[in-house]
Amino acid sequence: MNGIKIRGAGRSVPSNVVSNRDLERKIDTSDEWITSRTGIRNRHHCSGQETFSAITAAAAREALAAAGVRPEEIGACIVATVTADTLVPSAACVLQRALGLPEDIPCFDLNAACTGFLFALHTMECLLNASPRKFGLVVGAENLSRCINWEDRGTCILFGDGAGAAVVECREGWPSISAVMGCHGNDELLRLPGAEMEEHSYITMEGTRVFKFAVEAVPWCVGQVLERTGRKVEDVDFFVFHQANARIIDLVVRKYHIPPEKYYKNIAEYGNTSAASIPLVLGELWEQGKVGPGSRILTVGFGGGLTWGGAMIEFV
Ligand code: ACO
Repeated sequence: MNGIKIRGAGRSVPSNVVSNRDLERKIDTSDEWITSRTGIRNRHHCSGQETFSAITAAAAREALAAAGVRPEEIGACIVATVTADTLVPSAACVLQRALGLPEDIPCFDLNAACTGFLFALHTMECLLNASPRKFGLVVGAENLSRCINWEDRGTCILFGDGAGAAVVECREGWPSISAVMGCHGNDELLRLPGAEMEEHSYITMEGTRVFKFAVEAVPWCVGQVLERTGRKVEDVDFFVFHQANARIIDLVVRKYHIPPEKYYKNIAEYGNTSAASIPLVLGELWEQGKVGPGSRILTVGFGGGLTWGGAMIEFV
């Protein structure tokens, strides 16, 4: 199978910032508790014109511009999300119309919670191998703020909104992203009910148990991706982890002796943005010139489902 590489990345977050101090005025919490337990200081919440669809389109446009790829060259579009504006039409079909993507291509949403962007990259690699077009649009986007239960102080402080996008290219002879992915069906630790009548559509999470799952899953995924690609930590230019809790990232970088200049945390500013979290980091790294042509990135995600995944992604 031919591999994909990222040609351009983009991102968009709503301008409405909710700080820990703002939360102190709303619920029984403190800036000190949130910062020390999670590393989060701010999160951005959608409001007014800055809807899920608006930030999704903005991130995608930025990625297309960064890649120098026209909408009509796109061969497939996947939006990883659990919080699209509508279930039908999918966020990807809404985006298709907004951007003027071709009609003879698959556009669909993918739900693997916080691991969604990685599942979508792997799916895109498979799709582009079977497509006459060689570019694909992969987006991770969330509007989690509308699924927050403000009565639950253990979860309401964690989540933010945002969108990140990547335009990928598939070429003969390029290495596969070597994705490792897994799930164990667990409907207790993390839930976001859908169109049910009995339950509110709020996120519920057993945080401590999810934390324990994450601190095992993330290092395992790093090890698996290194093994599959035959690479060492020194061969990787940047490590990009799902931003769920700064302490989870600290544990894995310590375990693999990853130096500070090789990983990045933006959780302080955005909180946990689920499927948007990894592409938001990629977009920021791209903007800051920390990654670019030739960069090799090892990325790992984990989340509801429970799901986990890792991949080695290169930039064209
Ligand atoms: N402010 C102040 N006190 C709080 C708050 C708050 N916002 N929330 C909880 N507390 C209190 C609790 O009531 C508890 O008090 P008690 O000891 O008197 O009972 C105490 O703080 C400790 O609570 P814990 O829930 O045990 O806190 P913990 O250290 O586990 O941190 C957290 C909670 C931050 C949620 C952590 O468990 C975590 O990050 N888990 C992983 C989350 C994650 O990775 N999710 C990924 C997937 S998300 C997705 O897929 C959508």
